[in-house]
Amino acid sequence: MGGPEPAEVEEDATYLQLRDFTPVIVHRTRARDRGEVLRFVRHLTADSIELRYGSPMREETVAEELLGLATPDPRVSLVMETVTSGPRVVGTAEFVRYRHEPSRAEVAFLIEDDFQGRGAATVLLYELARRARADGVRWFTAFVLRENVAMCDVFVHSGFPYRVVRDGPQWIVELDIGTSKREDDREVPSRTGPAIAPS
Ligand SMILES: CC(C)(COP(=O)(O)OP(=O)(O)OC[C@H]1O[C@@H](n2cnc3c(N)ncnc32)[C@H](O)[C@@H]1OP(=O)(O)O)[C@@H](O)C(=O)NCCC(=O)NCCS
Repeated sequence: MGGPEPAEVEEDATYLQLRDFTPVIVHRTRARDRGEVLRFVRHLTADSIELRYGSPMREETVAEELLGLATPDPRVSLVMETVTSGPRVVGTAEFVRYRHEPSRAEVAFLIEDDFQGRGAATVLLYELARRARADGVRWFTAFVLRENVAMCDVFVHSGFPYRVVRDGPQWIVELDIGTSKREDDREVPSRTGPAIAPS
């Protein structure tokens, strides 16, 4: 009950679950997701938007960015929806390939505040990596504000080999997604603090 009707199931949808077994669907963002993406953005805190974009942004602009309509970059944008009470966007992720180096892509994530800490970004990272690998991408790069411990934790705990470089107020994180990783393969380092240091 409450799940998507067969006609609504997207061809590219992947059925996954969060750490607490909440079922979710991940699929590419479509123009018709605009209303739901805008609702998602309106539920975000200003802090989350600032951590994602580095400065405050208007909700409509954030929604346009997430829908991939604001820039012509070669990007793949994903939304994560819960399916228990009708489709509801609770997270987004994207990778944008570098034109001059197509084996490399920049990644970013944005998760609804109520859903943070439940493994949503981790699930999206694996799904993004799976799709990017199939597209010939080997490296993910992320620009993360240094105070963004949660985002650093997602990368460091992912199990993908990584390198971190400090660059002013941010970390530049480089992940080698060349090898497929299952969640239960990943090494979980000590939780005493962010296991990252400038290289
Ligand atoms: C950063 C963000 C994407 C993480 O998403 P998430 O779904 O909460 O991440 P997950 O639940 O998969 O994993 C979070 C990890 O960080 C830890 N964590 C979560 N919140 C934390 C916090 N406030 N402080 C420290 N660690 C935290 C969790 O324990 C988890 O580690 P684990 O895998 O060892 O358990 C999310 O917080 C977010 O959308 N933030 C605002 C936007 C943003 O910062 N985007 C990144 C720009 S590149």
